[in-house]
Amino acid sequence: MFKEDAPLMNLLKEYVKKDPVRFHMPGHKGKFIFSLQKLLSGNLYKFDVTEIPGFDNLHQPEGILKQSQRNLASLYGARSSFYLVNGATSGIIAAMASFLKEGDRVLVPRNSHRSVLNGIILTKSEPVYLIPGVDTELGICLDVPEEKWVSAIEDGKNIKALLVTNPNYNGICPDIEKIIKTARKMKIKTIVDEAHGPHFKFSKKLPPSGLDYKAEITVQSPHKMLLSLTQSAWLHFNGSGKEEEVIRENLSLITSTSPSYILIASLELAVIFLRKFGAKFVEKGVELAELARRGINRFTPFYCPGVDYAKSKGFFYDVSRLIVNTSSSGYSGLYVEKILRKQYNIFTEYADLNNIYLLITGANSKKEVLNIIKALSTFRKKKGKIFPVGILKKLPERILLPYEVFLRDFEYIPLKNSPGRICRNPVIPYPPGIPVLNPGELITKEHVELLEELVANNYICQGIKNNCIAVVENG
Ligand SMILES: Cc1ncc(COP(=O)(O)O)c(C=O)c1O
Repeated sequence: MFKEDAPLMNLLKEYVKKDPVRFHMPGHKGKFIFSLQKLLSGNLYKFDVTEIPGFDNLHQPEGILKQSQRNLASLYGARSSFYLVNGATSGIIAAMASFLKEGDRVLVPRNSHRSVLNGIILTKSEPVYLIPGVDTELGICLDVPEEKWVSAIEDGKNIKALLVTNPNYNGICPDIEKIIKTARKMKIKTIVDEAHGPHFKFSKKLPPSGLDYKAEITVQSPHKMLLSLTQSAWLHFNGSGKEEEVIRENLSLITSTSPSYILIASLELAVIFLRKFGAKFVEKGVELAELARRGINRFTPFYCPGVDYAKSKGFFYDVSRLIVNTSSSGYSGLYVEKILRKQYNIFTEYADLNNIYLLITGANSKKEVLNIIKALSTFRKKKGKIFPVGILKKLPERILLPYEVFLRDFEYIPLKNSPGRICRNPVIPYPPGIPVLNPGELITKEHVELLEELVANNYICQGIKNNCIAVVENG
């Protein structure tokens, strides 16, 4: 095979050969955690079937898939649960389509995942954005405080649904009990984006789940923190019988008619595993993460906040996610990430100018945790500074709804010429990962000044390409 024929395969093979320490998704970390997983090894192609006779149908399950999904629902205490083969992304879109019609308003944190914006566009709904807090001492995004949620729910007009993220990408969770209960009182439907929290149910040391308070819909990605294969996910439903039909129909609308039975089998294996060993697996991950946190704080120049930190800011925290602040010790997160990868064969989940981010599950080992502590302890403390987070104090003016933007022609123009134009794509600087501009919003001189400064200082700025930004016609 020539190198240029298969750039992806070559890189994957090289990665596997290196056998790196993985502090990133997926949660299985490339290992067989229990013997049943081996069923899916060997010639994977032999298992690659879909809805042939006798194998049921994910779009109208009446046999093996119906039973398998029932087992999942009973494990999580849901009225019903659905397997997904296109990630939590598809569950979030289908959930939004179940509660929102054209013109309805939906409450969402400004830092929601891209799938939420996709849901807003496809349902032609109107987003009401809640701006999350930021921590300027660590240079990270926090979340929307519960008081802000409650007043937005109580004061909002024509709000039909809300979408709360539990946890966000940094592991931070708002008080979903308050949010769900207030929403129920106001007859607003709750969708919980729990893509990163499928393990919450299995340990008392972790934040509560949307399922604990019977949110109408909770969407989870077991591939992130548990054991299923990438792209597999599930959706738990706790609404009324009529709504159950609607969600089923909406899932069908956006799901392939050839769902991968390999992905579905990996979900079923995860359920079997979790029923028997879920608590043990998740507890192990939590303990390893605490070991890593203690070690990093004690033996390295870096700071890794924990539950008490999040509590002091008014949030719950998923301790199995680690934010390691490096910039206050004189190193950008991007630099530390590169050293870990190149010199120590350790892969992180993500890095930005201020921090590196690690995900730890029960599939990691104590040896791997000791490895990263040792690697990080080789850095010497220097004079550092936290890179300021790129945020604006107030929301931009909205000219068009997000879906209207997608009905118009667009062009990329130099950022400096863009004041007065309407933004097409989300523009998101990292840190902190909160959009400065979203589709349909008016670009001003202040936006351009901020974005130019961030780009000049090497911030990752999604939505800006070669100093250009996508805009649509104003008229
Ligand atoms: C907060 C959040 N929600 C939803 C998703 C989508 O999950 P999936 O990758 O399973 O589609 C992600 C993906 O990273 C995410 O970070």
